[in-house]
Amino acid sequence: MKVAVLTSGGDAPGMNGVVRSVARAALSRGWEVVGIERGYQGLLEGRLRPLENRSVGGIIHHGGTVLGTARSPEFMTPEGRQRGVEALAAAGIEGVVVAGGEGSLTGALRLEELGVAVAGIPATIDNDVWGTDIAVGVDTALNTALGAIDRIKDTASSHQRAHVVEVMGRRCGYLALMSALAGGAEAVLVPEFEPDPQGIMAALRESAAADKPHFIVVAAEGARISARELHEYINDAPGTFESRLTVLGHVQRGGAPLAYDRILSSRLGAAAISALADGESGVMAGLNGRKVNRVPLKEIVGKMRPLDPEIYALAETLAGLP
Ligand code: F6P
Repeated sequence: MKVAVLTSGGDAPGMNGVVRSVARAALSRGWEVVGIERGYQGLLEGRLRPLENRSVGGIIHHGGTVLGTARSPEFMTPEGRQRGVEALAAAGIEGVVVAGGEGSLTGALRLEELGVAVAGIPATIDNDVWGTDIAVGVDTALNTALGAIDRIKDTASSHQRAHVVEVMGRRCGYLALMSALAGGAEAVLVPEFEPDPQGIMAALRESAAADKPHFIVVAAEGARISARELHEYINDAPGTFESRLTVLGHVQRGGAPLAYDRILSSRLGAAAISALADGESGVMAGLNGRKVNRVPLKEIVGKMRPLDPEIYALAETLAGLP
């Protein structure tokens, strides 16, 4: 059998572990493996390269993706996808493993509908993919955000300031909520829940009156009140802390994948190949508790992994505000 692997959408730490695992699991079955560079766009441009055991060596500890990634408007059209199917057939590729977020996995489902055998792997720092406890890249990105919040807290406490820290996540508040909980933030703003700016302002005033050394707010980039709006609101309000704004941005996407992501990517890559070997197409290899399972792609697309309201309530309880 000849299979291909591609990484698509925003890069995530651990994508290289996926490429290595897919390639080596397939090669161990005596299959041929091709890497498609720059995601679906690379498929349309014929950017294919053979992968061997050695060519995927020495990459598991590197951030980014050695295959490159892209967002392809052309592949989103029926004509583009048809061209993709033809390119795969012309290269003799019988199965494709796609690593990416919900948009990329939707692309995989569309290929499946056109008769291509596909297996998906959730890989996005946002942790918004339905059907898996966690996606490849989330743990490393979370730790990167947390490290930044810890550092910000040092300077916040030295100056007795408020700091509003914007973290990534697009439409999902997972990174914001978990980094707020782990970082001991005083407040968190996420897209999933209605913000309470008056409550935050009251807590700020009480914290200033109680001589609290800092006030950290973690805001998801998709929050209903933006990090910048809250930061300006705080600075315009008398009797509270002075505020500083930090947008963490793409720093959260890079860096060496931590152990969790290296292990997860290794497990999911091999599981995707097992699915194709079993003749099971149109599934995503995801994590459910301690087990890797196969989730039909059609159950995943158009949905978003929900945020746990209990963890949101816990972050508020543990903020220990006056
Ligand atoms: O989906 C991953 C992500 O990093 C989101 O958190 C963010 O909204 C988006 O990608 C940024 O995309 P780009 O790298 O194209 O600016």
